[in-house]
Amino acid sequence: MKAADYRSFLSTHRVMLAPMAGVSDPAFRQLCAEQGASLAFTEMVSAKGLSYANERTAHLVDLYDGEALVGVQIFGHEPQTMADQAKWIEQELGERLAVIDINMGCPVKKIAGKGDGAALIKDLSLAAQITSAVAQAVQVPVTVKTRRGFYDGEETCVDFAHIAQESGAAAIALHGRFATQMYRGRADWDCIARTKAAAAIPVIGNGDVFSAEDACALFDQTGCDAILIARGAQGNPWIFAQISAALKSNQTPNLNELPFPSFEERIEMARLHAHLLHEREPRSVLRMRKHACWYVKGIPGAAAARGMFNTCSTAEDFDKAFDALLSHLSQQEVGT
Ligand SMILES: Cc1cc2nc3c(=O)[nH]c(=O)nc-3n(C[C@H](O)[C@H](O)[C@H](O)COP(=O)(O)O)c2cc1C
Repeated sequence: MKAADYRSFLSTHRVMLAPMAGVSDPAFRQLCAEQGASLAFTEMVSAKGLSYANERTAHLVDLYDGEALVGVQIFGHEPQTMADQAKWIEQELGERLAVIDINMGCPVKKIAGKGDGAALIKDLSLAAQITSAVAQAVQVPVTVKTRRGFYDGEETCVDFAHIAQESGAAAIALHGRFATQMYRGRADWDCIARTKAAAAIPVIGNGDVFSAEDACALFDQTGCDAILIARGAQGNPWIFAQISAALKSNQTPNLNELPFPSFEERIEMARLHAHLLHEREPRSVLRMRKHACWYVKGIPGAAAARGMFNTCSTAEDFDKAFDALLSHLSQQEVGT
């Protein structure tokens, strides 16, 4: 896809899985895509790490069989390294690469403290150089994902969007919180609306979408072109099917008509997730400990199950824990 085609791509790919370090691996992307995510982003990948041909980093750009399109997010602060590695990713993934996103919003110390991620919000000139170097190095669209501003109360996203578009970004993704805010308070969607009103490039809204109602409200209140969902998809790939149904109905979603999974379906999805992780890389099943806790949230017996998950290291261990939870549930149903 060419950068100029991204606006039209977004008009049919409106609800996407956000990049999440430690979460958005191929197994999770597959489950979200099967539930209707229009596009899924990889976890952020270090451009510097890739440049050292570090295997641990290179595996982050692995796709699952059948993954026709993916968004890859890179982070770093050296324009040339970022451009070189974006080019390498494009060559490696070919037609399967939809977009390269540059992380300019991650506030965690080990990223922003080194001048990467959200630190770039404080250095607009470097942010512009990076965007322009990457956009010139590849054919695919290049986007930047950022936050409302760096310091609490100092909103800079409208200026940031102007810089991004002048530097060749095909879209800007905006999480409506300041970097220093981390996840405190609510995401401010008005700043997304302000950015949308001011920017010539598409704006992708992000922050606090936990239901189909939230998604419809974010589109309505901001006029954004597409949305990214992160925490709302954890243990809940169905959120994409629910949003897709709500957007199709083109009115306030009727909660009774949305595809909500039963407790048993949630447990079976968790089981499938564990097996997908195992098939790719047996060691990565350890990631399932946190995923499993998300899947079973609110299910009767979840507290005991969480205790079991924390001792699981293989797909078989998880099978046993899920079986125990299912058996607890069926006993409860007999009792009622
Ligand atoms: C576990 C986790 C990992 C994340 N990793 C990344 C990342 O690698 N790159 C990035 O740009 N944002 C990352 N984020 C931020 C999300 O993409 C998103 O911007 C933020 O969570 C707000 O969206 P939400 O309210 O839908 O969760 C991460 C968030 C979480 C919860």
